[in-house]
Amino acid sequence: MTTITPDRERELLASVPTRLLLGSGWADAADGSTFAVTDPSTGETLLEIADARPEDGAAALDAAAAAQRDWARTAPRERAEILRRAFEMVTARADDFALLMTLEMGKPLHESRGEVAYGAEFLRWFAEEAPRISGRFATAPDGVNRLMVLKRPVGPCLFITPWNFPLAMATRKIAPAIAAGCTMVLKPAALTPLTSLLLAQVLREAGLPDGVLTVIPTTSAGAVTGPLIKDSRLRKLSFTGSTEVGRRLIADSAEQVLRVSMELGGNAPFLVFDDADLDRAVAGAVLAKMRNGGEACVAANRFLVQRGIAPAFTEAFVEKIRAFTVARGTEPESKMGPLVDAATRDKVAALVEDAVEDGATLALGGRVVPGAGYFYEPTVLTDVPADARILDEEIFGPVAPIVVFDTEEEAIRLANSSEFGLVAFAFTRDLNRGLRLAEEIDTGMFGLNAGVVSNPAAPFGGVKQSGLGREGGFEGIDEYLETRYVGIADPFAN
Ligand code: SIN
Repeated sequence: MTTITPDRERELLASVPTRLLLGSGWADAADGSTFAVTDPSTGETLLEIADARPEDGAAALDAAAAAQRDWARTAPRERAEILRRAFEMVTARADDFALLMTLEMGKPLHESRGEVAYGAEFLRWFAEEAPRISGRFATAPDGVNRLMVLKRPVGPCLFITPWNFPLAMATRKIAPAIAAGCTMVLKPAALTPLTSLLLAQVLREAGLPDGVLTVIPTTSAGAVTGPLIKDSRLRKLSFTGSTEVGRRLIADSAEQVLRVSMELGGNAPFLVFDDADLDRAVAGAVLAKMRNGGEACVAANRFLVQRGIAPAFTEAFVEKIRAFTVARGTEPESKMGPLVDAATRDKVAALVEDAVEDGATLALGGRVVPGAGYFYEPTVLTDVPADARILDEEIFGPVAPIVVFDTEEEAIRLANSSEFGLVAFAFTRDLNRGLRLAEEIDTGMFGLNAGVVSNPAAPFGGVKQSGLGREGGFEGIDEYLETRYVGIADPFAN
């Protein structure tokens, strides 16, 4: 593994665009404002970048609206080839994208590399979907009229993306929108805007015309995006983030009856039954909990373990987690980086403190790592009381609360006792039980003997308060297409 030197970091940062991307290219903020993007492992500034103002948001939507008609008319093959070129270019620059994400978000390099492969794959998947957009033609049941059904791009979109997967959450929205022929305004998270700016540069180099994608990082999210959501030219809002913010955005979107896709919070139950393959269950648990330092809406949030296997599972799980080295993500030995900021770290610490006060036992970890950066020890809690706050709230950190259950019925009841319904995981050797759980547990996604289900070829999304719509898979492009019906009079009539 190559060592990352300060020179390498400086060289990469010097190549990242630091201005807004508006209709005709890179531009400063209307009033020249900038803000600092910091490294969560040191708290130091990485770059100062342009801080979009409401006028910049308006200019971005002007560009998206102006480009929409011509863009919708481009050949699907042309859009596919732009996406395919972008896939090749992101892949060729995988080391740059990975290091940039590690610098601005904190995850270890090996995880960032995994995200580059995951994020780039959305570009390739939707490059393959663009030429397959199709409609249908039928004779009406009465044999008179003809029915033609077309798919049309929804129109200009606003994307609000999170900080936890800076590349993949952007490509998961941008790629299907390009494939469908939509223009878009991207507002990346203020904590991690650099990856989006580099991605936008790559997409332009891949041939994306002016105005199809604009990028407006800002520290004034509400003031910049609020007016866009109320503008009748915007036709779609896609958001990934917390349920709390999602609810507000859905309410705001009602005014223009916007199409919305919402990838919101999760509270994933991870079930281990007595008949599970212990090694596979432990490996799956480590992945489901510690991928991305637990900062994922699909992260396992509650471990529900059957009484017979609970002691062996807990011991083996704790041993695996104990081996995690917590260090800056650029260090070759790093298995876990910092949390993204002080607020996230403090929330995680408070959830653990509350659980312990309520009677939970600390089997491992449980402390803020002293010194620079926002590091928190990987933590395992046992004997967690059923009413502990940590079982209700999305942890978004490397903390695994374990609860013991006795029967399958009880496990299903516990798994479903959440307002969220994004994903659930279960480990059992009994296939019938696995299928029963997949039907009975109320989530949009289910991992059977698998600790990660995310896949660009599969529909990602939740039910209940985890959101609306699906991203990825065949379903992902439908979010960017309208169905238009053309009724045609009887061609044999005089
Ligand atoms: C998320 O946490 O929002 C997405 C995680 C994933 O795509 O696996």
